[in-house]
Amino acid sequence: MSQHLSDAPRSAAAPAADASARDWWRDAVIYQVYPRSFADGNGDGMGDLPGVTARLPYLRDLGVDAVWLSPFYASPQADAGYDVADYREVDPMFGDLNDADDLVRTAHALGLRVIVDLVPNHCSDQHEWFKQALREGPGSALRDRFHFRAGKGAHGELPPNDWESIFGGPAWTRTTEPDGTPGQWYLHLFAPEQPDFNWDHPAVHEEFRSVLRFWLDLGTDGFRIDVAHGLVKAAGLPDIGHSEQLALLGSAPMPYFDQDGVHEIYRGWRRILDEYPGERIGVAEAWTPTIERAALYLRPDELHQAFNFEYLATPWDAAALHKVIDKSLAAMGAVGAPATWVLSNHDVTRHATRFANPHGGTQLREAGDRELGLRRARAATLLMLALPGSAYLYQGEELGLPDVTDLPDEVRQDPSFFRAAGQDGFRDGCRVPIPWSGTEPPYGFGPEGGGSWLPQPASWAQLSVAAQTGDPASTLELYRSALALRRELPALGAGRSVQWLDAPEGVLAFRRDGAGDGFLCLVNLTAEPVVLTVPGGRPLLSSAAQPPAAVPAAGGSPDPVDGIEVTIAADTAIWWAI
Ligand code: NOJ
Repeated sequence: MSQHLSDAPRSAAAPAADASARDWWRDAVIYQVYPRSFADGNGDGMGDLPGVTARLPYLRDLGVDAVWLSPFYASPQADAGYDVADYREVDPMFGDLNDADDLVRTAHALGLRVIVDLVPNHCSDQHEWFKQALREGPGSALRDRFHFRAGKGAHGELPPNDWESIFGGPAWTRTTEPDGTPGQWYLHLFAPEQPDFNWDHPAVHEEFRSVLRFWLDLGTDGFRIDVAHGLVKAAGLPDIGHSEQLALLGSAPMPYFDQDGVHEIYRGWRRILDEYPGERIGVAEAWTPTIERAALYLRPDELHQAFNFEYLATPWDAAALHKVIDKSLAAMGAVGAPATWVLSNHDVTRHATRFANPHGGTQLREAGDRELGLRRARAATLLMLALPGSAYLYQGEELGLPDVTDLPDEVRQDPSFFRAAGQDGFRDGCRVPIPWSGTEPPYGFGPEGGGSWLPQPASWAQLSVAAQTGDPASTLELYRSALALRRELPALGAGRSVQWLDAPEGVLAFRRDGAGDGFLCLVNLTAEPVVLTVPGGRPLLSSAAQPPAAVPAAGGSPDPVDGIEVTIAADTAIWWAI
């Protein structure tokens, strides 16, 4: 297949809504640290904050701008820390507040920003408010801060409505009253250990404003807001009317998600963020029926960014990617927000494994064709990092880690694995601790003999940071080179549009003006090599181990007017300077 790339842009997405100054977060590369699995400082097999702090120079050298830490707060860990018992304490398993302070200061000294996770939709059933609410029984003022209701049926034996938990089963659990009788029910959109707050209650608002200030005062640069779309529930908690509601999530309006009332909350939080110096940011984890609904969270007086889950869920398909890129740029551009791009996180099958499987999916059990998956994952990374806006990396993707798809059931810890018909269930596979060095588990994750809370595969010795460092063919060095180039060519992350160039089916080609003398990103998503003719220039980086073959076009004529024929291998992306 051969194609001459025309210089004429086919579409310039994203009409700019405002010309606000470019801020650090608009094109930041933000690296997600999952504290349980990043680095274990004390040898108990569980990652911790001192472990993260010790490894921050690695992240600085990798070339990221900021770190987002999943929750490390006091928690019984019913949902790996997304069940918070005390929002102002560090769980002893991760260290203490001094360790958090140390982490933030060290990161800042290295030029890295720190974003922490905020979990406002629900807390832990071990949170003081909830314990007191249970203790005091019906009529307790503390019960109003949650959704307690009488059950339906002659004896209150049925849940108050038909809502289903994201993790499977009903979204309600019945309590036993202090006198031992079966009592009221409470709402939990996730595990029973995660009661939902009632955001109609002023004390809940007050509490979270105070929690925001607590972490901002400690110096953090912002928040990733868990279930940002869930805080407000439709008045009266109306029935949905049918089961298997999970299938509708993200595509149909739900009375417990994406209610308009959430926006007032974020307007209030934005005012708090703006009181602090240094551009502190809010990032929404918002699953909405459309990308346009997600953009509403990013209006100028609300949050700064939202995860682009539609992009994450898009298969390895040129037309589908082209469409989602245009759609994302247009929707975010309309509110003046940067688009974001993400391929992996702690809730989904890593993209090296997703792309290894013919049918894709975010909760996979099959390892698939690993070589193919890695090839595509590397190409997908170069595509993502060439797009305008901000990109999120998930720890270990820079090592090309696959999901561990064969974890035995007895070591699994994801609560959704244990609840029938839940949305997820295989999230442990992307949470296996990182291999840093050595030939035996825990591969430098912690001190020798310390183990790791999820077992690491034997094959990970060759994927460790130490094994890949200095090997130009390694995925780690590819990430380092790509991030270094992104810094050298600031226009790569900036802007709000791409200029699509005509390309054969299965190939994506776009131009990013202003990136040095001109920049092309060429991605061959087909299973065969393609030959494209570019108007001169030179390769900057290839996702394949070998640089692309490039010869003068037009039957060998050396005339540069004819351009250069570049052969792009199957499932490969190339950055090209013109
Ligand atoms: C989204 C988080 O990413 C996920 O890990 C968690 O289980 C749910 N929210 C509930 O907090």
